[in-house]
Amino acid sequence: MNRSTLLRQMLVPLAALVLGMPVAVSAHEGHKENKSDAEMAQMESHDAAGEHDVQKEASHVTNGDGPQEAVAEQPTPEQALAAAIAENRATSAGDFLGRLHPIAAHFPIALLLMAALAELLLILRPSLALETTVRFLVAGGAGGAVIAALLGWFAAGWRLSDKSQTLGLHRWNGTAIAGFALVATGLAFRSHNRTGLRFALAVLAIALVAQGYLGGEMVFGLNHLGIR
Ligand code: HEM
Repeated sequence: MNRSTLLRQMLVPLAALVLGMPVAVSAHEGHKENKSDAEMAQMESHDAAGEHDVQKEASHVTNGDGPQEAVAEQPTPEQALAAAIAENRATSAGDFLGRLHPIAAHFPIALLLMAALAELLLILRPSLALETTVRFLVAGGAGGAVIAALLGWFAAGWRLSDKSQTLGLHRWNGTAIAGFALVATGLAFRSHNRTGLRFALAVLAIALVAQGYLGGEMVFGLNHLGIR
């Protein structure tokens, strides 16, 4: 096998994969356009069908058994890559801020769950003296939650009700998490009685696991854990 055949065999499936990227992009747009969960699923199945066609054509090209005209109509891997990058370009500052939501989302999840774990350890072993650690984690988690929620509103669009049940739950659970995390921070710094803080951290831990699950449902598709 010569070098150019090898290169083609590696690049064409890669281009097919890259052409699949608009699935995530159109899902992102769908959330902004207030589509229902069923409409989103329909959109994604159309995109997946398009991707399947591209992969079929790509396999013709790699096997060298496809009709020459079909091969000629296919973009080169470099063209496909450039088209995918251009299609993904942010359209406004608000659009860009929304795209930062997935990066920010992991901070409150990790920090607030660690705060809950540290508080649990403190209940089991008070001698560990983790009070300052808990304060640090709760404050950092609350800051992260406020930023993640704000960026989430840019990602989801600014409206009060959603046709998508998943997005509606995620929107208001996320907004409540940000508010509740601020209350928990106040309790961690001001109150000497830890009961309120413990209750807040337990509620936050449950809400954050649900929030991560709902986010995954939107990004990776309904039933993304395969348990329904
Ligand atoms: C503490 C608050 C929040 C957390 C921890 C959180 C977490 C997440 C996670 C983990 C994902 C999946 C990201 C991925 O795997 O790529 C996600 C996606 C998403 N979240 Fe949130 N979220 C929060 C608040 C919000 C809020 C308040 C909104 C809307 C107002 C929102 C809207 C979205 C949207 C639209 C997506 C799908 C991504 C997209 O279409 O670009 N989130 N979120």
